[in-house]
Amino acid sequence: MKAARIHRFGAPDVVVVEDVPRPTPAAGELLIRVAASGVGPWDALIREGRSKVSPTPPLTLGSDLSGVVEEAGPSVSEFKRGDEIYGVTNPQFCGANAQYAVAHANMVALRPSRLSHVEAASAPVIAVTAWQMLFEHGNAKPDQTVMILGAAGNVGAYAIQLAMNAGLQVISVVRSKDIEYVKALGSQTVVNYQSSEFQDAVRPVDLVLDTVGGETRKRSSGVLKSGGVLVSVVSADPMSERPDVRSVFFYAEVSTERLNRISRLFSSGRLTPQVGTLLPLNDVRTAHEMLGGAPHKRGKIVLELNG
Ligand SMILES: NC(=O)c1ccc[n+]([C@@H]2O[C@H](COP(=O)([O-])OP(=O)(O)OC[C@H]3O[C@@H](n4cnc5c(N)ncnc54)[C@H](OP(=O)(O)O)[C@@H]3O)[C@@H](O)[C@H]2O)c1
Repeated sequence: MKAARIHRFGAPDVVVVEDVPRPTPAAGELLIRVAASGVGPWDALIREGRSKVSPTPPLTLGSDLSGVVEEAGPSVSEFKRGDEIYGVTNPQFCGANAQYAVAHANMVALRPSRLSHVEAASAPVIAVTAWQMLFEHGNAKPDQTVMILGAAGNVGAYAIQLAMNAGLQVISVVRSKDIEYVKALGSQTVVNYQSSEFQDAVRPVDLVLDTVGGETRKRSSGVLKSGGVLVSVVSADPMSERPDVRSVFFYAEVSTERLNRISRLFSSGRLTPQVGTLLPLNDVRTAHEMLGGAPHKRGKIVLELNG
């Protein structure tokens, strides 16, 4: 079978598509015939050797997938051959950019029938990340105000929709080209970070969701109410300048239960995936160049396989 692999860490040109044996599912695992597989910023961190969770090369890239169960490994009772599923391969976030992949059964869920394989493959890590930021680490409640840094990004687009569904007031921090986009997703207030500083433009907020990091994250501590929460998926630096607020960093934990919650929102039409550039597996290196800044459509980059 074909797989997108690296044999050493480095720039996008270390990514090769090559033939490897089809993997075998162990206990608790599923062999998936992959229909589509996502590509996200953490794949670039893995390729560069900057991920704290991935194994050393050689390895197959990719975490997000949607496809059909080809074989259930020993002791798997939740899924069977022929089930259409979506989710993540394993806690190392590897192995999905291939024609067949092994996934932990407790990290996938049945694919929502309303979503195509491409749409489903675009969602798992980013949708679960946004869910965990808001509800598990941010303890978001109706009528609170949340400011989202990087709101036009892939995690941000889910965070806007989930926050709106839950009755929060949403402030999105984006550049000018993305203002109409985040308004269409439901954001009531938008700050253009190219023309104003958000700390001058917004009233104190209950929650900041950070998908940007750096000095943007640091400045955001200034807009939090006392007792507020800053949830970052980019930086674990402490916020010593504001001892009266809580700051959290975490790695997304994709599970069947969390995916099922997300699936119900997809099925009811309250959550919409944002698919960007679609590429064949052979163009996976191009996908990695896009992660590095090469032009691409807004939304998630997805690879199409087996078809
Ligand atoms: N810890 C975890 O488990 C976890 C899980 C998922 C993602 N992540 C991380 O979260 C980050 C975001 O992921 P993603 O998939 O959403 O990436 P993405 O789609 O590239 O989104 C990032 C967004 O931030 C915007 N941005 C950049 N600088 C900004 C600034 N100063 N102010 C406001 N917005 C700014 C970017 O747009 P412009 O540059 O055009 O403004 C882009 O829209 C990545 O670093 C990723 O690795 C971590």
